[in-house]
Amino acid sequence: MKLPDGPRLPALVQTLKIIAQPLQFLESCAHQYGDIFTLQVLGINSPPVVFLSHPEAIAAVFTSEGDKFELGQVTHVFRPLTGTRSLIAQDGQRHQRLRQLLMPPLHGKRLPTYGTLIREATLEQTAGWVPGKTIKIRDYTADIALQVILKVVFGLQSGSRYLKFKQLLKPFLDRVNSPFNSLQFFWSPLQQDWGAWSPWGSFLRQQQQIDQLIYAEIAERRQQPIGEDVLSLLIAAQDEAGEGLTDQELRDQLITLLLLGQDTTASALAWAFYWIHRSPRVLARLRQELANLGPDPAPLTLAQLPYLNAVCQETLRIHPIALISQPRVVREPVELEGYCFPPGTILVPCIHLAHRRSQVFPQPEQFEPERFLQSKFSPYEYFPFGGGNRSCIGMALSLFEMKLVLATLLSHYQLELTEGKPVRPTRRGITIVPSEHFELTMIGKGQPQKPTLEHPLKQIR
Ligand code: HEM
Repeated sequence: MKLPDGPRLPALVQTLKIIAQPLQFLESCAHQYGDIFTLQVLGINSPPVVFLSHPEAIAAVFTSEGDKFELGQVTHVFRPLTGTRSLIAQDGQRHQRLRQLLMPPLHGKRLPTYGTLIREATLEQTAGWVPGKTIKIRDYTADIALQVILKVVFGLQSGSRYLKFKQLLKPFLDRVNSPFNSLQFFWSPLQQDWGAWSPWGSFLRQQQQIDQLIYAEIAERRQQPIGEDVLSLLIAAQDEAGEGLTDQELRDQLITLLLLGQDTTASALAWAFYWIHRSPRVLARLRQELANLGPDPAPLTLAQLPYLNAVCQETLRIHPIALISQPRVVREPVELEGYCFPPGTILVPCIHLAHRRSQVFPQPEQFEPERFLQSKFSPYEYFPFGGGNRSCIGMALSLFEMKLVLATLLSHYQLELTEGKPVRPTRRGITIVPSEHFELTMIGKGQPQKPTLEHPLKQIR
């Protein structure tokens, strides 16, 4: 069997490169080998891992029918976090059924009901901003996203359990996304509980505290259903045999949504603030679009603004947060790009590389929201939320949230990038976020009299 070409470096070196310098490593491989290449990555049972970025290959993976692919063991890195019953640890019919159960509260008619909450959370979190204040925007977007996800998933907006969740989840997320802890999830020999002071032991104890809260909420809700949040709907759900989900099944879905839904949206928002404030032209056009609406526009009106939408799309093109879709394991032989991949091969749709293909996105390093006004891209050229039967179930919610938070803050505050602190893409767990010291400075309240047209900071990438 001939596999696509790839670097000849030892597997350990390739693994370290993909962990330590993912963008540089992937870009250099694409430069050398093109749209399809093979890496040897330790920790996922070590079969060859084939990276794809050509739209035809992506389409073939995303549109394949039935059980041609599975996630199988490749999501094992998430299991200590999400549990074995989470939808991301399932394949086939069970996976599809869980998706159907989880989707409704995250889509359609439920979304507008979160509009007021998102706006209020945004204004509440930023109430202390005064001119001259330097702002680590990701800390604020993380708090806003946490408030939103607690409401959507548990229906919680206040009360002591809500406060306890807030208090426990933030340090937990910081811990699981820190570089050393990410390594622990990849390499099971590091998963040793040597007491509360050992890294794994302290992770397990933190997780236990969160689980206790989740199980307490489940127990209460089984007695007293309260609404249309994810938990209420999951508790009411039954299969053909009339069986509902067990407590563990419920817990695994809930923690999955908390883990995947909060950090991703918070980071996407941080990138959006970064790019908007690096481009005076974009900021001025966006402000103009918002000003045309008058005071207090309805959330759905904001969500339909074409330029605001284009800014969010372009943010997720240039920094898709997740570099890759979930890796798919071949179950039946698959032909792609002139190769025949046998069962066991791992195929990885690479979002980052697909979004940087200059044939589709000319000058891919430039932040140009206008490209989304001028062209329509296929779901195999542009896919920040992945695709096919494993596409992100939080897409509608996170785009809605991004638009509302951006519109609210740009209408209430004038911000600029804090000078002298170049921002770099940095790994946080499985996502790529602006470097820790990324800061904005507040320079005024409300809309400026005249939009600023010059900005002193230069392009960094
Ligand atoms: C800007 C924000 C977000 C980005 C960029 C993002 C991106 C992604 C990507 C790339 C995937 C993999 C898709 C694939 O394998 O093809 C994914 C899966 C998933 N995401 Fe998101 N996501 C975001 C927000 C959310 C939110 C808000 C939630 C939940 C409330 C969520 C829940 C999930 C779940 C449960 C999956 C697994 C789906 C499955 O395996 O069937 N995500 N996301």
